[in-house]
Amino acid sequence: MSKHKIVFLGPPGSGKGTQAELLAEKLGIPAISTGEMLRAAVDEGSDLGDRVKGVMERGELVSDEMMAEVVKDRLAKRDAQQGFLLDGYPRTAPQADTLEGILEDREGDLDHVVYLEVPEDELVTRMMSRGRDDDTEEAVRERLRVYRELTEPLVEHYRAEGVLRTVDGHRTIEEVEVAILLAVASEAQDA
Ligand code: AP5
Repeated sequence: MSKHKIVFLGPPGSGKGTQAELLAEKLGIPAISTGEMLRAAVDEGSDLGDRVKGVMERGELVSDEMMAEVVKDRLAKRDAQQGFLLDGYPRTAPQADTLEGILEDREGDLDHVVYLEVPEDELVTRMMSRGRDDDTEEAVRERLRVYRELTEPLVEHYRAEGVLRTVDGHRTIEEVEVAILLAVASEAQDA
């Protein structure tokens, strides 16, 4: 099976983590969630964890510089050499540039950017019923605001690059999974 380089894009609570795990397992590539990596660092009490804890609790973004280090190190690992699924990175224009630079060095392009669309009231319902440390009402509101301001513009960026696969994420987990499989199996813009 040919290996893939995939990014999952979408607002907080849209199901990126849920679907990334399912698809990565099917494709035999690692699901790399920057949110999970940062939460693990906080739990371990590492230097990185101490630096990002407050930022995450407030629903803000960790700096592009810090994230560049985290992602470069992770993508350099052996299991990511043949393909990977990035969940939660890039989230800003500079992060998209950083990823492009990493891929240029590896002489490969992104194959797909899967964009999960879910209405805002559903996002809030999902996050408020999950109970993570950064799922307080205030942090959720801030994460959505930051998403609209800094991350959503990447949708147009990747559409222009011809790699965007828009998927309606407001369906059951199983239905979304099937739609994503179809989307990455084709060059279509929407599924
Ligand atoms: P991160 O963990 O990436 O959070 P997020 O993008 O806000 O996404 P979530 O994890 O909240 O949601 P998701 O889309 O993965 O949905 P999930 O599958 O969990 O980042 C956390 C923080 O880390 C950021 O705020 C930031 O501070 C920092 N960070 C991370 N990356 C960064 C970066 N690149 N730059 C700077 N800072 C960064 O699903 C949500 C819930 O809905 C779950 O309970 C799930 O069971 C449920 N669900 C899923 N699908 C469905 C469905 N189809 N129907 C009903 N329920 C569903």
